[in-house]
Amino acid sequence: MSKFKVLVTRRIPNSGLKMLTETCDLDVFEWEAPISRDVLLKRIKGKDGLLCLLSDRIDTEIIAAGGESLKVISNYAVGYNNIDVEEATKRGILVTNTPGILTDATADLTWALLLACARRIPKSDRFVRDGRFVGWSPTLLLGREVYWKTIGIIGLGDIGAAVARRAKGFGMKILYHSRKRDLEAEEELGAIYVSIEDLLKDSDYVSLHVPLTPETRHLIGEKEIAMMKSTAILLNVSRGEVVDEAALIKALKEGRIDSAGLDVYEKEPVLSPGLAELENVVLTPHTGSATYEARDRMAVMAAENLVAGLRGERPRHLVNVSVWKD
Ligand code: GLV
Ligand code: GLV
Repeated sequence: MSKFKVLVTRRIPNSGLKMLTETCDLDVFEWEAPISRDVLLKRIKGKDGLLCLLSDRIDTEIIAAGGESLKVISNYAVGYNNIDVEEATKRGILVTNTPGILTDATADLTWALLLACARRIPKSDRFVRDGRFVGWSPTLLLGREVYWKTIGIIGLGDIGAAVARRAKGFGMKILYHSRKRDLEAEEELGAIYVSIEDLLKDSDYVSLHVPLTPETRHLIGEKEIAMMKSTAILLNVSRGEVVDEAALIKALKEGRIDSAGLDVYEKEPVLSPGLAELENVVLTPHTGSATYEARDRMAVMAAENLVAGLRGERPRHLVNVSVWKD
């Protein structure tokens, strides 16, 4: 049997590539930079499968360029807002993602950002390196307590719940808002379901864990930030577009809220003007799932999903289940 033709838009960990080479003829984009649209349009032609990253926009034109042969799009990410799933579904193409295995890594990074903001870690690090530490001071680099405070989690899916578990360990009061109530999580974590308005008003920490959809775009804008406490800390490890970045920058500049920890950006990888100059932000480059362990598991899962789909088996992590005909 001839091998399946597969395009991989960037070198992923070897665990995944090795698995693919057994059944696939691989075309791997080898540069340490995102594949350009032109190159993607050319190289997807005639492929049976595509393994892509969250930074690759897989829209109507790219899917069309894949042509009749394209059967599976395997996203190396849990979020799949970068793919036009509706178009893929129309063409009977399976779309898969990598849920579950990066949950704890992403929750850990959320927690790292929370503590980094609360205790001014990056600012303190810069302070010491710059040689400005001239002795202990009663008022130097004061931060905010985490223990016993209130956290508001918007989006209580796998990652939101994993953040809540960490919050429980810190004795925090846990508020949440989600599309639907999760009675199991309420029982396990003592999480309390509230409206977005009450969550914003009452939380010392607000953490975003929703997928990006038309409904969640700019979920947090000027009006929502105005409802938050002036001492509140905002954390976003979901998608940049969930926050109106210009409104957030303005609020941070004016000291409307304490600070923000951001792993994602509205026009990623470009930062909105003024963001990098602010002292009261902690910024990471979309590294929520960036642990050796999680990225290895993602590579294997993305490869398994792809190979299953190409073999005509149902992939375990199928996004558009309506395409699947038993
Ligand atoms: C990371 O942002 C992912 O969606 O996997
Ligand atoms: C930013 O570094 C902060 O400490 O708030």
